[in-house]
Amino acid sequence: MLCLGIETSCDETALALYGEGRLIAQTLASQADLHAIFGGVVPELASREHYRFLGKLFDELLSRENIDISRIDLIAVARGPGLLGSLLVGNAFAKALALALGRPVIGINHLHAHLLAAGLSQPLIFPGLGLLVSGGHTHIYRIQSISQFMQLGRSLDDAAGEAFDKIGHELGFSYPAGFEIDRHAQLGKSGAFCLPRPYLDNDNLDFSFSGLKTAAISCIQNYLQENGGWISEDRDNFCADLNLKIAETLTSKMKRALAQNPGVKAIWLAGGVAANSKIRSSLMELAYDNDKEFVAPLKRHCTDNAAMIAHAGWLLGNAGFYHDLDYEVIPRGKIMPQDMKKNLSL
Ligand code: KG4
Ligand code: ZN
Repeated sequence: MLCLGIETSCDETALALYGEGRLIAQTLASQADLHAIFGGVVPELASREHYRFLGKLFDELLSRENIDISRIDLIAVARGPGLLGSLLVGNAFAKALALALGRPVIGINHLHAHLLAAGLSQPLIFPGLGLLVSGGHTHIYRIQSISQFMQLGRSLDDAAGEAFDKIGHELGFSYPAGFEIDRHAQLGKSGAFCLPRPYLDNDNLDFSFSGLKTAAISCIQNYLQENGGWISEDRDNFCADLNLKIAETLTSKMKRALAQNPGVKAIWLAGGVAANSKIRSSLMELAYDNDKEFVAPLKRHCTDNAAMIAHAGWLLGNAGFYHDLDYEVIPRGKIMPQDMKKNLSL
């Protein structure tokens, strides 16, 4: 069964083909350089860019791989959360293709697809306790199966990725700044700056990174006032401290979630921020210290891509799930309805 995956929820226009247990091909057009001019994603520009690129990328992908359009059995598309206009472009394309080919479509939860992306390179182990850390979300889930995700905790304000990006902007890095902070952190040593581990003094599994963001930005401003500019070694040390405090905060809440869910077999980690070296090693250590498996996508599958959408669609399609054509896209902040149908046989 060949599944086409379409991803247009934010600022990457991406397509992939997944079939018979392997990723066959993928393509991606990033808009990062365009949005970097504005210091963050401009929604109106993002949807226009998706509209400009999607058809062209689709044609290029099929001809490059020498795959006839009639071989596509299922169309999977990220239906949310994301930017409304951007989601509409991808989902309208997916529905039109489904109608033209007479094939089923399935709207994929972008966050679940991030977590399931580990399956592109390793077996998925259920039940799992999953941490999803991206630019817009920091969620903890109990994952029972490919279609059953129970949310246990969430970010109340800025997500971890947003904190990396906004603090990175103050440090002089271009958007998105997480990768650069991580790179500099590996050159530095933590301990020189006094950054907090935010929102741990409570008994819930939620996150709040806005306090850390404010503390980090005022620390940077004080440093710059005193020194007139960054000494490169100090900036590396600052990045190491930031990496450590975010990793410790995430790990601490996952440790708490694990105490409440001792029966899980694995700790899962995913989302763009899961590419972070300190967060990865810290969560891996938590898993192994507690005799759990560690389930995470390869670093190259952590940030937004269509391989994860095609893969999730293939898994769900094989299990019989699909959507009727009248399903809706779900922008950020809205609850994802449980509206998949289940009697598909391909
Ligand atoms: O999952 P993703 O590609 O997009 C969303 O769905 O939001 O995540 C993007 C986020 C950005 O905030 C980016 O700065 C962050 O992932 N990121 C990282 C690293 N690589 C990407 N953050 C920390 N360390 C990294 N190595
Ligand atoms: Zn994402």
